[in-house]
Amino acid sequence: MSLAGPLPEGPFGRAPLPLGSVAGFLEPNDPFLTACRGEHPSHTPVWFMRQAGRALPEYRSIRGEGSILDAIRHPELATEITLQPVRRYGVDAAILFSDIVVPVAAIGFGVDVNPGLGPVVERPFASAADLQRLRPLEPEVDMPWAAKTVAILVKELTVPLIGFAGGPFTLASYLIEGGPSRDYAKTKRLMHGDPALWSALLERLADLSARALVAQVQAGAAAVQVFDSWAGSLSPHDYERFVLPAARRIFSAVEGLGVPRIHFGVGTGEILDLMVEAGADVIGVDWRVPLGRAAAKAPGARALQGNLDPAACLAPWDAVAAEARLVLESAPAGMGHVFNLGHGVLPGTDPAVLSRLVELVHEEPPR
Ligand code: CP3
Repeated sequence: MSLAGPLPEGPFGRAPLPLGSVAGFLEPNDPFLTACRGEHPSHTPVWFMRQAGRALPEYRSIRGEGSILDAIRHPELATEITLQPVRRYGVDAAILFSDIVVPVAAIGFGVDVNPGLGPVVERPFASAADLQRLRPLEPEVDMPWAAKTVAILVKELTVPLIGFAGGPFTLASYLIEGGPSRDYAKTKRLMHGDPALWSALLERLADLSARALVAQVQAGAAAVQVFDSWAGSLSPHDYERFVLPAARRIFSAVEGLGVPRIHFGVGTGEILDLMVEAGADVIGVDWRVPLGRAAAKAPGARALQGNLDPAACLAPWDAVAAEARLVLESAPAGMGHVFNLGHGVLPGTDPAVLSRLVELVHEEPPR
């Protein structure tokens, strides 16, 4: 299966646009987009993965009791949740309030997200017959609220909005395991045992993510991030054979749209070069790899994003500040740096620490 037809008219699908040229409402020297291009912004931009969510009391008070997937379907609520961390922290980018399983849920695969656990799948993917349950996504029909939320947000925001989708390995792991996993045993059994079915599955998942990303960009997202959070569980050889083709498929679908493409995963130190090869402009790095080393491992990337250990944010402020300065100092001068945590904000994080962190990053002279 492939993406239906050519990309839509408008700036999309024509000549490739320069990175960061789409979001007309933003300053041309917007710090986040400037860093993503590999250039030098007036200050180091910072945002936090999972900046919305349970670390914020204002999130807990408006989120409601139902499934997060229901909250995401309400444009006004999803807009407010997206804006909360931007207002509170003064971060340089917003990330759409959504989840990586949204497109899979939107085509009726039967997935929900359990608080404290993550995605759970009613009938996990097990055989070729299950491919039929993965029809192509039609974003305007299957998830019209997403474009609505993005459209409202870009009117309200003065910083870029990051759209996102799941990476192929991570999505496949949830669908096959039926939920979170420690060793990805079933996933890897299928990957090694039935490579033809595996690649058919990954191709469909890649197309779901690609279409969701294109829809977010068309609606106004100024950058995209692919979360292949668990791809670091693979050896480089296996990543290259079993995941890279599908990752390429996603990144090439959003190539030339004028938006920087960020590629993130945890424990990816040995596959950073392949994650660039997939077509990313910016590589998200977890805390295990110092940024200087990450630069050497990711030739061709314009910028690095990361990489303070989220658990360090639970320590007293002086310790957090020291760790944050180490991250800033380790950013190589020759490329862009978007400050972030090495993974998502942990639920027990004191929001005041993140506010101070934003101030600290903004005050340090950029490299
Ligand atoms: O600020 C933001 O980043 C919010 C948007 C966002 C959510 N999920 C909302 C959410 C983003 C970018 C995601 C991505 C996501 N979802 C990933 C990739 C990032 C990563 O952490 O590696 C993954 C693997 C998922 C799947 C998922 N959804 C998990 C593992 C969980 C955590 C379970 C938990 O409660 O600890 C979720 C739930 C989820 N997604 C929450 C939020 C705010 C919290 C639960 C809730 O409010 O119901």
